[in-house]
Amino acid sequence: REPITIALLGSGVVGTSVARELTQNAADFEARIGAPLQIVGVAVRDTSKDRSETGLPADVFTTDAQALVDGADIVVELMGGDEPAKSLITRALSNGSSVVTANKALLGSDGPELYQLAMDHGVDLSYEAAVAGAIPLIRPLRESLAGDEVTKVLGIVNGTTNFILDKMHRTGAGLRDVLAEAQELGYAEADPTADVEGYDAQAKAAILASLAFHTRVRTSDVHVEGIMNITAEDITAARRAGFVIKLLAIAEKVERGEADGGAGVNVRVHPVLLSRSHPLASVHEAFNAVFVETKLAGELMFYGRGAGGDPTASAVLGDIVQAAHHRVTGGRGSGESADADLPILPIGES
Ligand code: NAP
Ligand code: HSE
Repeated sequence: REPITIALLGSGVVGTSVARELTQNAADFEARIGAPLQIVGVAVRDTSKDRSETGLPADVFTTDAQALVDGADIVVELMGGDEPAKSLITRALSNGSSVVTANKALLGSDGPELYQLAMDHGVDLSYEAAVAGAIPLIRPLRESLAGDEVTKVLGIVNGTTNFILDKMHRTGAGLRDVLAEAQELGYAEADPTADVEGYDAQAKAAILASLAFHTRVRTSDVHVEGIMNITAEDITAARRAGFVIKLLAIAEKVERGEADGGAGVNVRVHPVLLSRSHPLASVHEAFNAVFVETKLAGELMFYGRGAGGDPTASAVLGDIVQAAHHRVTGGRGSGESADADLPILPIGES
């Protein structure tokens, strides 16, 4: 079968992990999808950087992102930011390409228009990596819980601030000292203000609330307060009283009178004092955890690595496999492997 072509926009922390996995495990991806995947080009700002970790030849790197987008089956946007990401995604969807993105900032502000554009053109716009890194959360909310009624979403959705607060609790260090470490580990945004001021969690809260409550919540609808004002003294006082401080995203249905427009949604991000016995109090380092309360399922909890190149790549690659699989099957099928010749692995005792 003809290869499924991929234009990769960005080869930073996440893009490098994605490219490396696609090149190192090409045969496995082909077996899972039923067609080979081919990275036709990678858009970057600086083509002189060493990109050998991706396993790709130097001549696939280009600064001309727009030329790459045209003609690709799947466009994987891992540049971040507003522009040129928005124009490139718009162009790709309008061309009939599937799009995979981890860009929560863009989806939080312009998601509704982009989802509509994808629907109009009958193509996938997938964004599992945009909220809570490796944790499968978008698809469960959008698909598995589509017949239930979500009443509340509560979670730690920013790995950088959780890493910072956790480290401050454990070591007594100041916020700025720990931020540098989070940046080195690849957890922070290109501009870490987005993390510490709560804007990253604000965008994620908007995406989650939109999915959970089948409505349109934009980043600007979400009240936000970050962690910049939290001092080592605050942390010490909280610890002595048996609490930890966590930055939480909270989205809940609120009942209002008919005169006020009936049921509404309240979405906010702010630091919260949590009892040490609360399950979210033991979410350490850059891990994320999200509680979902629903009418029928009751309480669900999602937990895992919320930031970093490899964990985020896991979610991006899942979206790529699904988009490619849809291209092979014409959108039909269960998502099982398309390859009838999959190797049969021996089954034995461990
Ligand atoms: P990053 O390390 O800053 O990488 C960005 C990449 O995009 C770089 O390769 C950069 O080129 C390229 N790029 C940026 N602007 C460009 C432009 N105008 N034209 C061409 N190339 C451009 O970012 P990242 O951490 O991988 O994050 C990528 C996306 O994933 C963001 O939307 C982020 O919010 C999201 N995300 C990140 C994480 C995480 O843990 N890091 C987790 C979940 C989601 P150069 O290499 O030449 O600079
Ligand atoms: N900067 C983000 C975080 C990356 O720390 O959670 C993952 O979205």
